[in-house]
Amino acid sequence: METVVSGIRPTGNLHLGNYFGAVKSFLQMQNEYNCYFFIADWHSLTTHPKPADIVKSARTILAEYLACGIDPEKATIYIQSDVKEVLELYLYLNMNAYLGELERTTSFKDKARKQPDNVNAGLLTYPTLMAADILMHKAVKVPVGKDQEQNMEMARKFARRFNTMYGTEIFPEPASFSLSDKAVKVPGLDGSGKMGKSEGNCIYLMDDAETVRKKVMKAVTDAGPTTPNSEKPEVIQNLFTFLDIVSTKDTYDYFNEKYNDCSIRYGDLKKQLAADVVAFTEPIRERILEFSSDTQLLDKIAKTGAEKSSESAAKTLKEVRQIIGFREI
Ligand code: TYM
Repeated sequence: METVVSGIRPTGNLHLGNYFGAVKSFLQMQNEYNCYFFIADWHSLTTHPKPADIVKSARTILAEYLACGIDPEKATIYIQSDVKEVLELYLYLNMNAYLGELERTTSFKDKARKQPDNVNAGLLTYPTLMAADILMHKAVKVPVGKDQEQNMEMARKFARRFNTMYGTEIFPEPASFSLSDKAVKVPGLDGSGKMGKSEGNCIYLMDDAETVRKKVMKAVTDAGPTTPNSEKPEVIQNLFTFLDIVSTKDTYDYFNEKYNDCSIRYGDLKKQLAADVVAFTEPIRERILEFSSDTQLLDKIAKTGAEKSSESAAKTLKEVRQIIGFREI
């Protein structure tokens, strides 16, 4: 059975971007592949979270994974920092990762701009750690949103480079996976490109109905179309992309027609959109609350996941050490 790996950083609650960019694919893939879904807490250290927040945030994401329907009987769910083997592979991959290529990645340049006082080496080697997460389990598919494309390109490059350098085929080249034919980008409703934590424009699965409504009703719009069938400006396209994601086709078509004949009222569209988002998030939110209170269950799932993941990681690492020329330990 082919292997799938993906992770999410525990920097707060899951938002709709995480859900539709990644988690939705996890739900389908867990039925068809050998899946490893983890919580990327090492990656989150690049922004220096407080120790007290680390345990809490890992548990939060774990509860949210379960609430979304990721099933620990089908997929291995683990916390990245529980599987220390990854660090050794990270080190080996770093030996073949060059400063120039790491500095050129858009995510590094973005972060360096956003946090100029904290341009640390972890930030620079973020893509090698991500590659280690993936290659550790020899994954062939990685469900991620569009923003991860460059990191995925790097992971493939590091896999190829290792294989070529040592004349092996140990690592398959991992492909990004998306349920639709192109990578998903969930937009923000504030006129900025994507929904994201650092953009501060997220709708969270944990938001209550009132908060969701307020956020959706505040979405940026324009004065409305004046010529029939005109192209939608970005902020309006974003609303329609959202409708496409959470509403029915009929709803989408209804507002699309209204847009095309210039009779659209954005207030109506937003009300409908808010109702559809709430209908989607409410049941998940209730399950998150249930799972969050059962820390014993969460810790048990994390422990089992760590064991299964370490087993797979240790197997790969044994091969890697042999290939590199180290003695067996
Ligand atoms: P992170 O934590 O930023 O995001 C987790 C997942 O959510 C997706 N996502 C989105 N998709 C569509 N539209 C959006 N607006 C949106 N916002 C977030 C991301 O694409 C991602 O799939 N580097 C990763 C974590 C990671 C990882 C890995 C992923 C570490 N190691 C190995 C896969 C494999 C990250 O920071 O994701």
